[in-house]
Amino acid sequence: MAKQQWKPGNMLYPLPVVMVSVRDKQGKDNIITVAWAGTICTNPPMLSISIRPERHSYRMIEESREFVVNLTTEQLCMATDYCGVRSGKDVDKFKEMRLTKVDASEVEAPMIGEAPVNLECKVKKIEKLGSHHMFIAEVVAVHADEAYMDERGKFDLNRAKPIVYSHGEYYGLSHKIGTFGYSVKRRKKQTFRK
Ligand SMILES: Cc1cc2nc3c(=O)[nH]c(=O)nc-3n(C[C@H](O)[C@H](O)[C@H](O)COP(=O)(O)O)c2cc1C
Repeated sequence: MAKQQWKPGNMLYPLPVVMVSVRDKQGKDNIITVAWAGTICTNPPMLSISIRPERHSYRMIEESREFVVNLTTEQLCMATDYCGVRSGKDVDKFKEMRLTKVDASEVEAPMIGEAPVNLECKVKKIEKLGSHHMFIAEVVAVHADEAYMDERGKFDLNRAKPIVYSHGEYYGLSHKIGTFGYSVKRRKKQTFRK
């Protein structure tokens, strides 16, 4: 197990990659792709997104103190990448990527209709960490697409084919390995054939 020691940096992968939709005080909408995002509290439900202050979207969120986190899928991968390499200063990303604006219920920022899940968020705190400032936000509403629910209303996000971001690359999730707690569940007696 020969390992190289590298200088300190971020190698916490894979990560979710999300499209964050925003609306500024003038009513202008934008989308920024964010991989530095994470769940930080169950109750109250809270998440964080870290954004460089020089991004066009930074000012929009700083002013409005609201945003929507839109989960991404294999089908949305191209749009996810585009929203992460073009600026809302120059292009209308909703228009260019033909994404549907849907009204949110608790915040002014629009949701992306094509995303399987939308998390409406209100900023509670901004931590100025360094290159990135972290927006700590409360999730104030969740929208889940009925297309991924079974007859009994059980939501199966995996049917939407979510993607992850790993060291500069996007990946789909190929197959299920287990379910929560499977490592300690009593296993069925195995029968071995000679
Ligand atoms: C996969 C991916 C992940 C990204 N993650 C972040 C991030 O976590 N924080 C950030 O500030 N920028 C991130 N970016 C860069 C911004 O999305 C990019 O600079 C974008 O064009 C900013 O848009 P805006 O100028 O309209 O705000 C990411 C880009 C990509 C492609």
